[in-house]
Amino acid sequence: PQAIRRICCVGAGYVGGPTCTVIAQNCPDITVTIVDVNPVRIAAWNSAPDAEGRLSGLPVYEPGLAEIVLACRGKNLFFSTEIDKAIEEADLVFVSVNTPTKKSGVGAGFAADLHYVESSTRRIAAVATSSKIIVEKSTVPCRTAASMRTILESNSRPGVRFDILSNPEFLAEGTAIPDLQSPDRVLIGSLDTNEGREAAARLSAVYEHWVPKHKVYTTGLWSSELSKLAANALLAQRISSVNAMAAICEATGADVDEVAHACGLDGRIGPKFLKASVGFGGSCFQKDILNLVYLSESLSLPQVADYWRQVITMNEWSKSRFAQKVVQTLFNTITMKKVAVLGFAFKKNTGDTRESAAISLCRYFRQENALVTIYDPKVPEAQIWMDLTEPGVVDDSIEVRKQITLAPSAVAACVDAEAIVIATEWDEFKELDWASIYAGMKKPAFLFDGRGIVDAKLLRKIGFKVHSVGKGPEIVDPVWA
Ligand code: NAD
Ligand code: UDX
Repeated sequence: PQAIRRICCVGAGYVGGPTCTVIAQNCPDITVTIVDVNPVRIAAWNSAPDAEGRLSGLPVYEPGLAEIVLACRGKNLFFSTEIDKAIEEADLVFVSVNTPTKKSGVGAGFAADLHYVESSTRRIAAVATSSKIIVEKSTVPCRTAASMRTILESNSRPGVRFDILSNPEFLAEGTAIPDLQSPDRVLIGSLDTNEGREAAARLSAVYEHWVPKHKVYTTGLWSSELSKLAANALLAQRISSVNAMAAICEATGADVDEVAHACGLDGRIGPKFLKASVGFGGSCFQKDILNLVYLSESLSLPQVADYWRQVITMNEWSKSRFAQKVVQTLFNTITMKKVAVLGFAFKKNTGDTRESAAISLCRYFRQENALVTIYDPKVPEAQIWMDLTEPGVVDDSIEVRKQITLAPSAVAACVDAEAIVIATEWDEFKELDWASIYAGMKKPAFLFDGRGIVDAKLLRKIGFKVHSVGKGPEIVDPVWA
């Protein structure tokens, strides 16, 4: 197939940025331009290195990303707000814009808001003067490609043809670079026509610069679109399943890590993604399952919708169950008590807080009138304030600041605290000087491990009263029984 020489990526977010940076790195013969309507984001992607030569101002934190951007930027990788120019010059355009859950109108709270996808599609149709391959990179409901095709064909100039592909992204945040460098698979969906297969082969050739050909799986468009929702639903379901087991463990004395390990040894189940937690977060799982629920309902499949909805219900319950455990254990009140929350990102190695369990926990603690101190190594302070204030409520931020403080380190967050809550599994929390933290706390000093990362036995020897998700009463001292 004819080689792709110029790629434009519409949307310079968590997916578009890292994905197309890795394409640029592996394909020196391809010029990659990542564009966005948000000039602040583009300026951050173009920010200069700091005094030590590191790119610390990028809008997305991912281990290994800054080094690749530094190596490729200005050579075959560009970040720009000149959207029309980049589209016009490209042979292939990735649409990698956000598809959040709709906030109002039909399907509010469930359906995906496709207006960013639609407006970028209309823009492509309006400015393209040559034929192009348009690739859905955003996660979209099944059959969105059909709408994109209609919009493109109804608005294109004479002689310009568009081939549409679905190429969902499976990277996980925090491990985006290794996930992109050696993906389990690359999925490409196309129409089953000569032109569709030819377009898929051209996109496949881009990935084959570094991904073995046998890992590129080509399917029909609708299967490809649905596979993305399906994969996220199955992954989230595993976490809700193990978190449901965690509740049984806590009530019986079983240990959820042992149960998960025993189950994972079965080759049919496998060991990954079975870590019990305070609850899953992130921008994808909840949104994509709600999307699947909406799709099922609109297809008159209420039983299917109910089945998947339960994965979210279990997750919400896991978060509130954990928060309630904190209140109950602190003698049924945390009013005016200092609670240190360690970690605010939805998982380690990212500064992303979208749907983070820490947000739910902090809101719950606030309602109980606790004084909450938060520390996270990567989340910017402004982001934490934004997540904890209600949009549009003017005086809210003053109230929030009476109850919430941000600490410069984990150790500082814990001074004078009555309880520590580990909300994110950052590695640095495993290596804290727990004895000196204990010395600086009110007694009894409680620690609630929402991620199962600390050595509870060791901490109990220091004097902490420890609760770990999914660890039953038999392994803790009588205070907990
Ligand atoms: P994001 O919000 O970080 O980035 C989207 C970007 O698109 C924003 O910077 C926004 O300004 C820009 N944008 C919106 N409309 C535009 C337009 N018309 N023209 C130009 N730019 C426009 O979102 P994200 O996390 O990168 O997610 C993008 C898509 O990828 C979503 O559909 C998401 O479900 C999917 N996805 C996300 C992840 C993840 O881990 N974040 C993983 C796989 C798939
Ligand atoms: C997810 C999918 O993994 C990825 O394939 C898709 O492209 C986007 O959505 P992401 O949300 O970035 O990726 O991170 P992931 O590692 O899946 O974690 C999601 C949440 O589940 C986090 O809050 C994480 O802490 C939690 N989790 C994960 C658990 O509680 N237990 C586990 O065993 C795994």
